[in-house]
Amino acid sequence: MTEWQKTTWRNKPRVQMPDYTDAEALHAVEAQLAKYPPLVFAGEARKLKKSLGAASRGEAFLLQGGDCAESFEQFSANGIRDTFKVMLQMAMVLTFGAKVPVVKVGRMAGQFAKPRSAPTETVNGVELPSYRGDIINELPFSAEARIPDPKKMLQGYTQAAATLNLLRAFSTGGYADIHEVHSWTLGFTEGEKAAKYRDMANRISDTLDFMKAAGLESETNHNLKTVDFYTSHESLLLEYEEALCRLDSTSGKWIAGSGHMIWIGDRTRQPDGAHVEFARGVINPVGLKCGPTTTAEDLKLLMSKLNPENEAGKLTLIARFGAGKVAENLPRLLKAVREEGANVTWVCDPMHGNTIKSSTGYKTRPFDLVLREVRDFFAVHNSEGTIPGGVHFEMTGDDVTECTGGVRAVTDEDLSDRYHTACDPRLNASQSLELAFLVAEELTARRTDAAVANG
Ligand code: PEP
Ligand code: CO
Repeated sequence: MTEWQKTTWRNKPRVQMPDYTDAEALHAVEAQLAKYPPLVFAGEARKLKKSLGAASRGEAFLLQGGDCAESFEQFSANGIRDTFKVMLQMAMVLTFGAKVPVVKVGRMAGQFAKPRSAPTETVNGVELPSYRGDIINELPFSAEARIPDPKKMLQGYTQAAATLNLLRAFSTGGYADIHEVHSWTLGFTEGEKAAKYRDMANRISDTLDFMKAAGLESETNHNLKTVDFYTSHESLLLEYEEALCRLDSTSGKWIAGSGHMIWIGDRTRQPDGAHVEFARGVINPVGLKCGPTTTAEDLKLLMSKLNPENEAGKLTLIARFGAGKVAENLPRLLKAVREEGANVTWVCDPMHGNTIKSSTGYKTRPFDLVLREVRDFFAVHNSEGTIPGGVHFEMTGDDVTECTGGVRAVTDEDLSDRYHTACDPRLNASQSLELAFLVAEELTARRTDAAVANG
């Protein structure tokens, strides 16, 4: 392999990136971003890598979630707060099931650029370039809005910096209230599932009461007052990534300064392509989406490129096959990993393989299919004796109606009520919590099985 530099991706075939027409404007933006401070520091990325290594061994569990695409227009403090809050609630439920620390990573503070299934979109016979995320062009269907504008990278940077600033404030400023657990299950009133969830919530709050009574929850107990919260996004717009790439003076290595963790999408994981080339040179933990079209040969090549030293926590494989396709695809990739003796952290993304068009025309994801993919993921890991290391969701703290189903059922007809996503449909707060309870149940069952096997 030739020597890596932050610019070597430019010599490789690139897909899913805009063709900026104004080269001068592009260079000016790149030069400006290159002078700005990075958003994250190498020590943080190393700490996250260590935690993801623990997740690969079953000693921690990753919860990664947030918007499909962050939006410039919907940017608000309340939006950040609500998503952060739901993530903390989910993490609490998962900790209870997994009995290990939950590593919290937002799809936030940089999740702006989107790969698309087609380069153009046709409406009423008019064909225009596709919308590619707010950091590239604009959503309205007009020729002008769809022209890629490099200056949007500066707005993306500013929004990411402000988001991260608020997240850091929430994480350490005493915002995270873990005593609200009862109110989380208020919507879950019927059926066997609701009873199970209430039971779990009761046990969590009993534990908290006990800790308080025993004096374990004092003002000085730092662990209950602060959390580590990391950021992540798809490393798609490589001009932006390169401009924020920095040399870490401690290690003499390069870090993507745009976020703690970056990932490579299902459409940009060509082993000889530009996106893999960029990601292989940075010290950040890297995610790699694996779908039905990921071959064992490609995966082996990608593992050796993206994690040449076989470090634990460096590479997270994000499985996104679709409900009903896990049993046929995950085992063959687990086999490839086993054959290479590769260290990877397996994570389930039950969103991207389950997108359909609803009867009312909206892009949606039936909650039942999402749940089914999660269950299948755990089932395969259980039968193969491998470790499910985490979950990856598109969700929001807002009360949106974008995915159908859930305990407070959203129907095809409801989708138009509060459909706010700029890209893929997200789970709302209630659906996110319901999913967390299901994952916690799977993790509890897994621990019980392991105890029986060892007992
Ligand atoms: C995404 O995570 O928003 C995405 C586009 O996923 P994938 O690359 O797996 O389709
Ligand atoms: Co998406």
